[in-house]
Amino acid sequence: MDSIAVRGNGPLHGDIPVSGAKNSAIKLMAASILTDQPLRLTNMPRLADTKFLGQLLRQFGVQVIESDGAAEAGVNGQQTLFHAAEITSTFAPYDLVRQMRASFNVLGPLLARTGHAKVSLPGGCTIGARPVDLHLDALSRLGAVIELEEGYVSAVAPKGLKGAEIEFPFVSVGATEHTLMAAVLAEGTTVLRRAAREPEIGDLVRCLTAMGAKIEGVDTDVLTITGVSSLSGADWAVIPDRIEMGSYACAAAMAGGEVRLTNARADLIQALTDKMVQAGVEVTPTDDGVVVKRDPAVRLRAVDVATEVYPGFATDLQAQFMTLMTTAEGESVIHENIFENRFMHAPELGRLGADISVHAGEARVRGVDGLKGAPVMATDLRASVSLVIAGLVAEGETTIGRVYHLDRGFERLEEKLGRCGAQIRRIHGPPVESPADEH
Ligand code: UD1
Repeated sequence: MDSIAVRGNGPLHGDIPVSGAKNSAIKLMAASILTDQPLRLTNMPRLADTKFLGQLLRQFGVQVIESDGAAEAGVNGQQTLFHAAEITSTFAPYDLVRQMRASFNVLGPLLARTGHAKVSLPGGCTIGARPVDLHLDALSRLGAVIELEEGYVSAVAPKGLKGAEIEFPFVSVGATEHTLMAAVLAEGTTVLRRAAREPEIGDLVRCLTAMGAKIEGVDTDVLTITGVSSLSGADWAVIPDRIEMGSYACAAAMAGGEVRLTNARADLIQALTDKMVQAGVEVTPTDDGVVVKRDPAVRLRAVDVATEVYPGFATDLQAQFMTLMTTAEGESVIHENIFENRFMHAPELGRLGADISVHAGEARVRGVDGLKGAPVMATDLRASVSLVIAGLVAEGETTIGRVYHLDRGFERLEEKLGRCGAQIRRIHGPPVESPADEH
């Protein structure tokens, strides 16, 4: 099990290229099941999660070929070709699905393409109960016959999927994406109301459209899908990872200095940068990202945040912002509205000297003068990066254990921060099989 050691080492200075979005890439990869033609994804992040999903897709008979092409403006050279010429299996076993929750979303595409699938339920997760009832209700509305048996979902659509009007009871990113992928090949029209509007859904809609799908309402909460009988392949560049971008923006704000985030889009993290500006950070949008600047001699001000669905403040940036608030002047109240039990980073930050109390969905962070390095444990993907950010200013060394969480969503983190002056290194340990969690 690897760990990461960080030493408080003063301000950061330099450029950080933002990778393609994990949360977009894994849905686009699942969409490759929908066509017998090749789907070539560029700006692909190389992460534990994308590697893992690639393995699952191979089990279904999908050819997965990674290569390094030429970098273009805003797009790195990493690409992967997915070719599902023939689907040879529609079974996703528990051992694989439990390792990565989002892999449950292969159910809809398998069903739409072949008329049947058996996929394990994703099971528990460290950031609260995360059911899939909305996914299953929506697939049933499209005509799937669903049975739950011994932890598996068996779904068949003997007469093919049929378009339907579906109003989600509340906004769910996963259920919106999943239903969308099933509906593009359904017969007739599907209307999805109260659809999520996260940029990764926009990316999926645009890629599906490039593959020949007929979808109206991109980036709105009503998606109207006119089913087509088949889709073609496409070349598609994955959008920048707004969570990675926001995490490095928090890192620069925490350590001080001046960091330019490139290969990105300022609008994707507007809710975060609005709060950062209120706290006293200088944020300047550029053509391909933002510059984050902060005088380390001037203390930040405490600011309250509440996580919301997009375009609100992202739950995936809550831990990083909490870290930023640990040394700000005053008290910050942080409301987590998307997931219960998503403050597991708070006690770990406490080990570094932060003063945080948590009651139900609310955390109160009273700014302290400084943090002190200590051994801490990563509890989930976004929590683990928040501990790295804290380590950038903590006196002495902070060692973060269970780094496999981090490797699921951050590409070459040590290299990217190290180039800006951070003292950060990986300590290699024996390999570990990661438990179920997502983010
Ligand atoms: C969530 C985040 C998303 C983030 C992603 C990956 C939101 C709204 N969602 O998406 O921003 O990018 O994690 O880190 O911010 N729920 C049900 N039944 C269902 C599906 C969901 O009750 O069938 C509940 C969940 O428990 C949760 C809420 O709905 O409380 C939103 O979940 P959802 O958006 O589906 O989660 P993810 O797709 O994982």
